[in-house]
Amino acid sequence: MQNPSPLPAAEKQPRSVAVLGSTGSVGQSTVDLLRAHRDRFSVSVLTANKNAALLAEQAKELGAGLAVIADESFYPALKSALSGTGIEAAAGHDALIAAAGMGADWTMAAIVGAAGVESTLRAIQQGGTIALANKESLVCAGPFMMEAVEKSGARLLPVDSEHNAVFQVFDNDNRAAIRRIILTASGGPFLRKSRAELDGVTPEQAVKHPTWAMGAKISVDSATMMNKSLEIIEAAYLFNLKSEKIDVLIHPQSIVHSMVEYIDGSILAQMGAPDMRTPIAHTMGWPERVETNGARLDLAQTLNMAFEPIDIERFIAVKLARQALGAGMGYPTALNAANEVAVEAFLAGELKFSAIESVSEQALQSINFSAISDINDIFAIDRDARKLAVSAVEALK
Ligand SMILES: NC(=O)c1ccc[n+]([C@@H]2O[C@H](COP(=O)([O-])OP(=O)(O)OC[C@H]3O[C@@H](n4cnc5c(N)ncnc54)[C@H](OP(=O)(O)O)[C@@H]3O)[C@@H](O)[C@H]2O)c1
Repeated sequence: MQNPSPLPAAEKQPRSVAVLGSTGSVGQSTVDLLRAHRDRFSVSVLTANKNAALLAEQAKELGAGLAVIADESFYPALKSALSGTGIEAAAGHDALIAAAGMGADWTMAAIVGAAGVESTLRAIQQGGTIALANKESLVCAGPFMMEAVEKSGARLLPVDSEHNAVFQVFDNDNRAAIRRIILTASGGPFLRKSRAELDGVTPEQAVKHPTWAMGAKISVDSATMMNKSLEIIEAAYLFNLKSEKIDVLIHPQSIVHSMVEYIDGSILAQMGAPDMRTPIAHTMGWPERVETNGARLDLAQTLNMAFEPIDIERFIAVKLARQALGAGMGYPTALNAANEVAVEAFLAGELKFSAIESVSEQALQSINFSAISDINDIFAIDRDARKLAVSAVEALK
């Protein structure tokens, strides 16, 4: 990535804000920060998929201009909850994309999964600052996203704690001196379990992350290490690095969020408590800093910091990510889509935890597509990979 362009003077406070996915885990942490900094931001758009009640509550509290619910069947609930408030209500896919393109000064892209790709792209095309939590946008369509950033001059700032950490210590003006980046991984709840022990794992156990409180999908991805795998792909596109320059280290305490190693042997790390409000606040204030009301790291209490290499025979998702990245654009899209199908089936009790990676692996091996010329080709690959994954899930049931 290039150094983000400076904020234009016209974008000084209060900055207009759109939060795509405001009812989710990252979305609620963002709302929490907006609540604490009302003088600096004015909320123009909030969006959700189904949770009309929370969306309406957030919109009323923050005085949003527009609330959009993606699933149209929840429009009557949203409309009625907002009646008499003067806040506009809208519903459906097109309304979501239009809201993402309204040109907010700062947009939080926090929809989960490939469902967030189109709205992220639309927001980038408008310029402004895009706080990117939706890693799937880069995984599925990295080259298109980065090209759109170049064209519009948008500032794409990573929210994923690892990428935000790398961004904070990555000397863009001295790229040749960067030996590698090191993404840290907590290892999830099953780090010490053997593959054989994973068969009987339940969704409740899988979503119980040892250090982070997150949405269900990313929590399961952390348990299979698919989250780290998607993050390798995200980092490759975001920082324009080859796969071999991106390492992963297990760090169960989640204190060092990631590192950059330079050719002179220096390793620069960013540390903090495992609280998403810190990276979110970093993107909100950038290039300045915003105070958070979140957890603080007490180094005097935190003497125990361990690091260990990742066992890629045990966590095969990491191997799949590197294969997909090496194979080129389209393959990471397929890997991500198949994983989404598999995780949904696991959460619904239809697939064993230990079979999640195998669904992704099968889809990655079977996907077939011709040249990719625009984002619609990416959406077609996503659809095809989902079909392959559904068949694989059926066969494994
Ligand atoms: N959670 C974390 O700590 C964390 C950390 C780093 C990166 N991330 C990334 O941030 C993104 C969000 O994660 P999360 O954990 O916050 O997810 P989450 O808690 O599941 O929230 C997802 C949000 O997206 C909305 N949404 C879901 N499906 C949608 C659809 N089809 N169309 C439009 N909106 C939809 C949800 O609305 P409803 O509430 O109405 O369903 C909700 O607002 C993911 O890409 C994740 O990888 C998360």
